[in-house]
Formats: sequence, C-alpha cells, structure tokens
Amino acid sequence: MSFEEIEKKDSCYIAHTYNRFPTDICGGEGAMLFSEDGKTFLDFGTGIAVNTFGVNDEEWKKAVTAQINCVQHTSNLYYARPAVELAELLCAKTGAKKVFFSNSGAEANECAIKAARKYSYDKYGAGRYRILTLKNSFHGRTLAALAATGQDVMHPACFAPYPEGFYSIEPTAAALRAALTPQTCALMFEPVQGESGVNVPDAEQVRAMAALCKERDVLLIADEVQTGNGRTGKLYAYEHFGICPDIVTTAKGLAGGLPLGATMFFGKCENIFGAGDHGSTFGGNPVACAGACSILRRLDKELLLEVQGKGEYLRTHLSRIKNVRSVSGIGLMIGVETTKPARELAQKCLEKGLIVLTAKNKLRLLPPLNVKKSEMDAALQILNEVISE
Ligand SMILES: Cc1ncc(COP(=O)(O)O)c(C=O)c1O
Repeated sequence: MSFEEIEKKDSCYIAHTYNRFPTDICGGEGAMLFSEDGKTFLDFGTGIAVNTFGVNDEEWKKAVTAQINCVQHTSNLYYARPAVELAELLCAKTGAKKVFFSNSGAEANECAIKAARKYSYDKYGAGRYRILTLKNSFHGRTLAALAATGQDVMHPACFAPYPEGFYSIEPTAAALRAALTPQTCALMFEPVQGESGVNVPDAEQVRAMAALCKERDVLLIADEVQTGNGRTGKLYAYEHFGICPDIVTTAKGLAGGLPLGATMFFGKCENIFGAGDHGSTFGGNPVACAGACSILRRLDKELLLEVQGKGEYLRTHLSRIKNVRSVSGIGLMIGVETTKPARELAQKCLEKGLIVLTAKNKLRLLPPLNVKKSEMDAALQILNEVISE
C-alpha cells in the first residue's frame, strides 16, 4: 500500500485524535526505521520511549516468539511463568515487594491511585483520599490520570466532570507543606517531566518533599512511565535523587514495544490489595512479560553507565549548536529549547531523515539505549543543520 493510500484510509477509518507527521513506518533495524515508499530514518523517538533496544532486536524477538510458540494469553485466573519471572526480576532489581501488571502507563497510574486511597482508608478510615501532583505533570489520558495531570489545558470542559480529589502544586517542599491537609493520602510526581518539556526537578526539593511525605505517612508515588527502564541511565529515575518512593509506576519501555504497565509496591504498601480489589484481563500478558524479561535482564550497571555517557555526549554537543537556548534531561531523555517552534524543527528533521519528538516548546530526544556513536553523530549533524539554519 502506498503512503497516500495509508493516509487516506487512516483519515477515513481512524478517529482523528492524533496530529500525525506525514510518513508511515513499516520496518526497521536498530535505530533505523523504514517507510513503505523506501525512505529511511534515524529514530530518536523510539515510539515515545517504547522500543528500548530499537527495532528488530534479536534477543527481544527470540524471547517474544518463544512465548508466542507456547501460549499467547492465559488470563489472570491461572498461574503463568512469564509474569512471575518478570515480577521477581523487578522486585530483585528495585527492592519492591509486589507488582501489579496492567497494559499502559495510565492504567499503572490508576492502579497506584486506587492503592494509595485504599492504604489510607484501611489505616485512617474514610475521607483521606486527596492526591497531590505537580504543576506541568502528565499522568495519562483516562479520567483519573487526566485529573491528576497538573495542566489546565488537559481539563477541557467537554470531558467534565473529572474525578475529584486531585490538586497540583509547585515542585517545592514549601508548596507541599502548604497543600498538605488531613485528607491527603499521596503525592504523585514524575522524576523528570517528559511531556511538558523534559523538566528535571531540583534534587534538594525532591528529597525534602520525600522526607515530608514520610513524616506525614503520605505515600510517595513515582510515575516512571517515561523515565523508567534505563531511560535516564538508572533503572528507575528516582534513584538519581536518593529517595525511596512507596509506589513506582512504569510502562512504555518496559516490554520493549509491547503493551505492558507495572505498578510496584514497596515496604508498607506490600499488602494493600487483596483478591478482587483490582484486575485486568490483559495485564501481565505472557508475551509482553517475556519481552520485558529480555529487556530488564540487559539493564545492568554497565549498560546504564553507557546510557549516562551517551546522554552527556549528546547534551554537550547539542548545547554548542547555534540557536539552542537550553538543553535539559538526564541520560537518554533529552529536551532541547531553541529559538524556533519545535514542531517546525521536528518536521524539518523528518525531511532530512531524523525522527525526533516535541515536548511543549522543546525538541525531545529519546533514542534507543543501544544507539551507536555514529548514529548520535549523524543525528547531531542533522539537528545542527536544522536548528542553526
Ligand atoms: C509520565 C507519564 N505518565 C503516564 C503516561 C501515560 O501512558 P500511556 O499512554 O501508556 O497510558 C505517559 C505517556 O506519555 C507519561 O509520559
């Protein structure tokens, strides 16, 4: 099918919720992507931080196809090895005590919200349900995740009413202290805000907010849907701040390209849920879990250090490009603020064979964790041409 035909049928049959760039993607190899009409692109978007080790990754394909050859789905009514192996891996690598599997980031956050409210209800009784989040955060598109999202533009009247009990604050301990009430049960935050511009919070403030949460028995929920699974050069980005959240959510890169969400429960949160409290038909799907195991096993110290080094290399060179105002981010999660509109720049990059994302007024770079030096140099050259033009 030609690109024109795909575009026409997409417009005809798919709900118009996405503002797509004018190309299709039909294949790839590592950090290279191919379109139906034979164009090649260097992929610095990874399907929004999903294809952790790029496309056509042999180890991942082997794990996924081996599982497909056994059984593709079992339901959560029965025991299954892949989910158990993945949960054990996650717990061993993070110190979490229990994991709940879902299918997406929004669902992982919904699960965390329910868990935080139940923790409080069981311990303190009804009414302690309020959840604080941070200004400019993004937590997903379901109604509760939208209500948690700290951006007014994400709360249009057409979708009202939103679930109550969410309130967003500036990312400071003083703002948290002022916003805490006897009804507050949790603070949810992204260790690096992805969608709103790759914003890295102040480490001192993060530590002070975590300490205050601990003191008040307010659960600290880290939304690592985008930052997790090695993206920032740590397995989970909260590690950069020397804090221990009570609940960590993740999705995107976890299964390297298959839909999987995970909500991890630490310490006092281990036994919040009992039978019937939460559930998901597809959550913990064996194929997705097998893929996730093949990703997680490779996220060792050496690889994470490499991610940090690659991130530094890119940031150093990006900050030297003419018209670049600032470069933000950690590891291979990078925001570039320039003097030009981000969407226009992303379109020009695409025309020159480089896929990049935008985040508000910035370019956002999320290359595969195994991106090669030659690929980083090729991307930098295109970015240089486009931004400094
Ligand atoms: C921090 C964060 N939380 C939640 C989500 C929602 O994830 P999903 O689209 O898988 O529901 C996203 C997606 O961009 C995200 O970046």
